[in-house]
Order: sequence, then structure tokens, then C-alpha cells
Amino acid sequence: MSNLLENVLFDPSINVNWHMQLSERVALMHVLSSVKPDVSIEIGTFLCGSLRPIAAASKRVYTFDIDPNQHRDQASFPNVTFVTGDSGATLPPVIDELNSGDEDVSFMLVDGSHEEGGVRSDLSQCARYVPKRKPTVILAHDSANPSVRRGISTVEWASFPHVHAVNFDFVPGILFDREDIKGQIWGGLAAILLMPEVRSGPVNFDANFQYSLSAMKSQSIYG
Ligand SMILES: C[S@@+](CC[C@H](N)C(=O)[O-])C[C@H]1O[C@@H](n2cnc3c(N)ncnc32)[C@H](O)[C@@H]1O
Repeated sequence: MSNLLENVLFDPSINVNWHMQLSERVALMHVLSSVKPDVSIEIGTFLCGSLRPIAAASKRVYTFDIDPNQHRDQASFPNVTFVTGDSGATLPPVIDELNSGDEDVSFMLVDGSHEEGGVRSDLSQCARYVPKRKPTVILAHDSANPSVRRGISTVEWASFPHVHAVNFDFVPGILFDREDIKGQIWGGLAAILLMPEVRSGPVNFDANFQYSLSAMKSQSIYG
């Protein structure tokens, strides 16, 4: 069923080796078509699955991966800058460079390290970006996974003046019964909104899947 739907919903040339659920792909495509990025950032290139739609929708893209092997297909992506290494070290100078330039970075995907500290570090760097003329949407993949969720939860969101909203459950995740990851919770997209203007009140937080997630956890390996 999902393959039939995918074939109708996506151009087959961009729906290749994309490591996301169908609902997450649809959400990502909608965000891209709404924000129409000049520049995008992707942390976690892997098999270029999410990179294909991001590159197709953006004038130019930075993609980051710690594994040089994931950057072997650079020739197929003329508008993409491939940055190889641990994003803990490679992302901060790129954010500095983009902050001092004049381009709008309207889209970022955080899908690299899934360790709590790595997620917190990547998101904290992304949240340092100051939007120039347009909003910036950051999506963080696997927001339902306990380690990733702890990483998202422990970012000092209020300390970033351009962060207006954090939605942990823009797309909810799932409890897997697939043999290799049975009992594990993966998937979900958190969405973070940065605006050019400085926030005047508190950050708007939303986590409407939290109750479901707690119930799910009791059935999982974490419960
Ligand atoms: C889940 S995959 C990305 C999937 C891809 N975004 C997609 O949807 O098709 C995660 C990738 O992040 C990379 N990664 C893990 N830790 C990293 C780190 N500290 N810095 C940069 N990349 C990292 C891994 O090598 C892997 O290729």
C-alpha cells in the first residue's frame, strides 16, 4: 500500500534510499515547498535519501556526514557542498560563515548523531543561525527516540533569541515490531521555528504526542 502511494506522491527520481517514514517524507516535502530555501543545511547525508529532495528544492545545500564513504556521490549534486567530519567540529564554522553572509538559510535537517549529546550540539549550533529576511524551519529526525528526545529537550532553547517555537511532535514516531529493532522507538520529526525578529516572550513549546509516547514506552525496551 505505502509503495503505491509513494509512487503517486513522489517523483521517483527523488524518492531513493530515503530513510524516513512516508509521513515524515510528506512533511519534509511540505516544509520545503513552503519555505522555498535559498540555502539549506542537512546533518546526516547517509545514502543521499533526504538530500535529493532538499537539493532539488534549494539553490544550494551544505550536507554533513562523519563518514567519508557517504560522500562518494558528490558529482550527482552540483549545488551541494559536502562537509566531511564530526558535525560537532564542522558545523560551527559554517553557521558562523552563514551568519556573516547575506543569504537566507530557510531549511535545516538534523539527522546525524542520534546520541543525546550529539543531537543537543547540532541543534544548539543550528539555533545560533540568525534569519535575515525569512523564517527558518529546522526539522530534527527521530524525535520520538528517547535518546534523541533527551537531546532536543536539553537544548537551552530560551537562550537563543530567534527561536520562537519548538514542536517535539510535528510528526510522531512509532514503536517498531521489525525484527532488527523490535521494541525500539524511532521516527518522528521535531520542528523548530526561527524568525528574523527577536522573540518578545517565552518560547512556544508543543509536545502533543508525549502522553502516547509514555504509553508506548511501557511496551518498549525502554519501559
Ligand atoms: C540516519 S542517517 C541519515 C539519513 C538521511 N538523512 C536520510 O533521511 O536518508 C545518519 C547519518 O549521520 C551520520 N552521522 C552520525 N554521527 C555523526 C556526526 N557526529 N557528525 C556527522 N555525521 C554523523 C552517519 O554517518 C549517517 O550517515
